[in-house]
Amino acid sequence: MEPEYYQGADAAVYEHAHGDIFNSIEQQRLYGMLREAVQSVQTSARPMRALDFGCGSGNLTRHLIAQGVRTVSADVSDDFLADVRRKYAATGLSETLKLNGTDLSNVPDAHFDLVASYSVLHHVPDYLAMVQELCRVVKPLGVLYLDHEVTEAYYKKPPLYLEFLSKARPRVDWRRLFSLVFDVRGYRHILRRLANPRYKREGDIHVWPDDHIEWEKIERILREQGFEVVLKHDYLLYKAVYKLQVYHEYKDRCADERVLIARKKHGG
Ligand SMILES: C[S@@+](CC[C@H](N)C(=O)[O-])C[C@H]1O[C@@H](n2cnc3c(N)ncnc32)[C@H](O)[C@@H]1O
Repeated sequence: MEPEYYQGADAAVYEHAHGDIFNSIEQQRLYGMLREAVQSVQTSARPMRALDFGCGSGNLTRHLIAQGVRTVSADVSDDFLADVRRKYAATGLSETLKLNGTDLSNVPDAHFDLVASYSVLHHVPDYLAMVQELCRVVKPLGVLYLDHEVTEAYYKKPPLYLEFLSKARPRVDWRRLFSLVFDVRGYRHILRRLANPRYKREGDIHVWPDDHIEWEKIERILREQGFEVVLKHDYLLYKAVYKLQVYHEYKDRCADERVLIARKKHGG
């Protein structure tokens, strides 16, 4: 069943609200990492077939299609899927798939050359069971790409990271304040939030302490499912509200997000 908070997901509101994703620094990083993932695939099928798990408004889908990859964009939200169809159907490389939110029972084993997911696992109640499902649908010598999930530093806030946050964030976020006061949808969001504290204005949920992503457990599952890690990189996410100069000063000194690329071994 579609989770209540995803009904009526609005792609335009989602993209507007996520200055942490839809900015040129993050988009450039993402494009480069996806290229790395595509190049790590050692299956023989061409064009390769990819799954964009939790596709939202098509953030990964866009980059995958740009790299000539046939992409199945999958989500629990009908509205996001309709948005992806509207934007990418004409490319001839795009399909959509409705998910049930708990497993990939409508996908056969070893079906995809590449399975990619960005900022989704923390929304999935039993995310470790979902990681097993993602592993299951990857072909031997295919690749699993997990990106934009926070690291321990995000929760623990070591001194250097705190120093970065205090310098990079504006004292008052006027844009946010303005939209809270003048955007009518903001009021609806406040009312809905009274009923469900997890509700966000784009019809979303976010990282809460009990949504904690445990990367060691994810890596253990990958090993058990016969995957080898090809690339593991922690990075400092650029958010549109950050002061650019401060971001550049700290981006190689602290990190709060992880990207992981793992390949399924031949007999995996
Ligand atoms: C933060 S958005 C990320 C969207 C997209 N990957 C991107 O990069 O912009 C989280 C996405 O996960 C989807 N989602 C939430 N719960 C899910 C679940 N249990 N199974 C699959 N997708 C889910 C949402 O509908 C939403 O599109």
